[in-house]
Amino acid sequence: MQLQKAIKKRRSIHSFKKKKVDWRDILDCLEATKLAPMAGGYYSLKFLIVEEAGAKEQIAKLCDQDFIAEAPYVVIFVSDPSVTKNVYPERGDMYMRQQAGAAIQNFMLSLTERELSSCWVGHFNQEKINQLFGIKGNIEAIFPIGYAKDIPKTRQIMASLYNRISFHTWGNKRIDKPKPIEHYAPEGYIKY
Ligand SMILES: Cc1cc2nc3c(=O)[nH]c(=O)nc-3n(C[C@H](O)[C@H](O)[C@H](O)COP(=O)(O)O)c2cc1C
Repeated sequence: MQLQKAIKKRRSIHSFKKKKVDWRDILDCLEATKLAPMAGGYYSLKFLIVEEAGAKEQIAKLCDQDFIAEAPYVVIFVSDPSVTKNVYPERGDMYMRQQAGAAIQNFMLSLTERELSSCWVGHFNQEKINQLFGIKGNIEAIFPIGYAKDIPKTRQIMASLYNRISFHTWGNKRIDKPKPIEHYAPEGYIKY
C-alpha cells in the first residue's frame, strides 16, 4: 500500500470482528517502530502483547473503554525512561514521549497496510495496569488490534492550514522571495 493511501485509510476503530489475527503480523508491525527516529539513536520502547480474555477485560476496565476487550489482541507500548534520561538528563523525558509517538505512527500505518485496525488509547490507569502486569516503565499508549467491524464514514479534518503556516518569519503569510536576514534583525542582533 502506498504511504499516502495508508495515511488516509487509517482510522480509530472501536469495534472488531471475531476474525483471528496472526500474531506474526503484529510482530511485523512492531518491527516498523525500529525505523522511527529516536534521539541519539537510543531506542526506548518495550511492548506487552495480551491475548487472554480476562486480561483484556481488566485492561478495558482500567481504560474505562469496553470496546478494548473485543479486540483479539491488545498491545501496550512502554517506554524505559532510563534510556533517554541517562543520555539527555534535561530533555530525555520529552524525547522519550516524542519518539514513542513517532514509533506509534509507524506501527499504526503498518497495521493499516495489513488491513488490521486499532485505536490509540491514551486514557488509562497507569499505576493499576503497571501493577496488574508487573510492567516496569511508562505506559505510552494501549492498542486494541483486530479487523474492523465498523469503519467511520466521516472524518473531521481541518479545511486549511493557512492560519497555521508562516513563511520566513513568524506570522508572515507570503512565500515571496525571502528578504535578507538583516531586514528582520532587531537592533543589536548578532549575526553568526
Ligand atoms: C494521545 C492520544 C490519545 C488518544 N486516546 C484515545 C482514547 O483513550 N480512546 C479513544 O477512543 N481514542 C483515543 N484517541 C484517538 C483519537 O480520538 C482519534 O485519533 C481522533 O478522534 C481522530 O480520529 P481518527 O484516528 O479516526 O482519524 C487518542 C489519540 C491520541 C493521539
